[in-house]
Amino acid sequence: MSGHSAGPIVVDQPLADGSGNSTEIARCRLAQLRSGDGVSVPSAAGPIAIFEVEGEILAVQDTCTHEDASLADGFLDGHVIECPLHGGQFDIRSGLPVCLPAQLPLRRFETRSDGEFVYITT
Ligand code: FES
Repeated sequence: MSGHSAGPIVVDQPLADGSGNSTEIARCRLAQLRSGDGVSVPSAAGPIAIFEVEGEILAVQDTCTHEDASLADGFLDGHVIECPLHGGQFDIRSGLPVCLPAQLPLRRFETRSDGEFVYITT
């Protein structure tokens, strides 16, 4: 299982009104994404964890549904993120829990990139 020693990288701020697209709620720089490391981005919907897996950018709610832990600081193995607090696991493609004690699904977010930024949309 791959992990990382550094904590989550928090970048940017929630998009302000007037961004030109009301469905975009957060963004980060594409360069901040490193395979295997989560990026935590604040948003109006709460913190969002963004991952790059084999060139695919995936975003889910950052806070674990079991208790209060940042999944961006978890351990990614393929498409499964392991919570750093109790080891619950989720498939970040679907948001569904795959290992206890996680039982409730994560909220998923759509992503798009313009080559410089990754945009998170509802
Ligand atoms: S806080 Fe994530 S499994 Fe407990």
